[in-house]
Amino acid sequence: MKAVAVFPGEKRFGVIDHAEPGPIGPREVRLRMLDVGICGTDKEIAAFEYGTPPDGFDYLVIGHESLGEVVEAGAAVDGFQPGDLAIPSVRRPCAHDRCTACRAGRQDFCFTGDFVERGIKQAHGFMTEFVVEDSGYLNAVPRSLRDVAVLVEPLTIAEKGMEQVWQVQKRLPWIGSHGTYDHVALVLGAGPVGLLGAMKLVSEGFRTFVYSRSSGSESRDDIVRGIGATWLPAEEIPVANLFEAMGGAVDVVYEAVGASSLAFEVLHNLDANGVFVFTGVPGRKAPVQVDTDRLMRNLVLKNQVLFGTVNADRGAFDSAIRDMETFARRWPKELGMVITNRVPIARAAEPLAGKLPGIKTVISIG
Ligand code: BGC
Repeated sequence: MKAVAVFPGEKRFGVIDHAEPGPIGPREVRLRMLDVGICGTDKEIAAFEYGTPPDGFDYLVIGHESLGEVVEAGAAVDGFQPGDLAIPSVRRPCAHDRCTACRAGRQDFCFTGDFVERGIKQAHGFMTEFVVEDSGYLNAVPRSLRDVAVLVEPLTIAEKGMEQVWQVQKRLPWIGSHGTYDHVALVLGAGPVGLLGAMKLVSEGFRTFVYSRSSGSESRDDIVRGIGATWLPAEEIPVANLFEAMGGAVDVVYEAVGASSLAFEVLHNLDANGVFVFTGVPGRKAPVQVDTDRLMRNLVLKNQVLFGTVNADRGAFDSAIRDMETFARRWPKELGMVITNRVPIARAAEPLAGKLPGIKTVISIG
């Protein structure tokens, strides 16, 4: 069957012929892959900066943002039957007894770093025709989300991030439960992670601003305005004027650009009791200067919390699927606009090499 693979040793990638998975076990499910999204991580893997093939292979089948259709379910599988839509999670637990996170099914918090990630680290991914997966790693998706469900995995980043924001903000005695925190959020970056993060923040009642460079025909600003957030064009507003443009300080910053200099400049302006969430993974560039005294003073004197978040757990997939249904009802046009290109597997090399402009490119397989 066809698959898109990267050969790190030979520094090449492309469509290959990959063996079809064999017979399924009693707890396994065979999926026919429908859609696989391409993200920054995939582009880094295709640039040979990241990604590790599984043992015994000189190539890695990539793809971790996906949607498949069940074609066969093992005898002991509960909850999936042929025709159902499903999204596999990405990370698999490490094998160490001492890793309490992995042993608790929270490999997104793995202590040892010996986790495996499908399509990224030591396990083949989903940019292929058929995949066999343990049903315990599958998330059921309603048919109504067929066209946008490939965005669930990037949305899980916001779900896990916001879950932690609420846990942190429980420290403030006047904060009730989810959705009662009527304050200001700033999203840095209007890529898919930023735009989906903005949707999540708006839906949780934040007055949300999105700071990003504009990009010609892609209508990122229209998506932002369409969901009721405010577009702040980076080419017109320097960071120093950002907070004035928002009319005051912010309570939550959701970083989704992976540019550390911008992130730390903004961090200087976080409000008292604010939370700063890092989701981007910057490349290794030259060191940037940061005023660490000012930073530390603010962190202490303003009770600020700064955290990074990676990968996602089952709960984050559940809430992403629920939220995706809400977004699809509330903002069908804007949600659809996040997917700018759909290309067949034969053309996967173009977006992977960064040759296709757009917000989210999806490889349509089925
Ligand atoms: C994926 C995560 C993964 C991370 C690090 C991201 O692109 O969405 O699931 O944990 O890369 O490999």
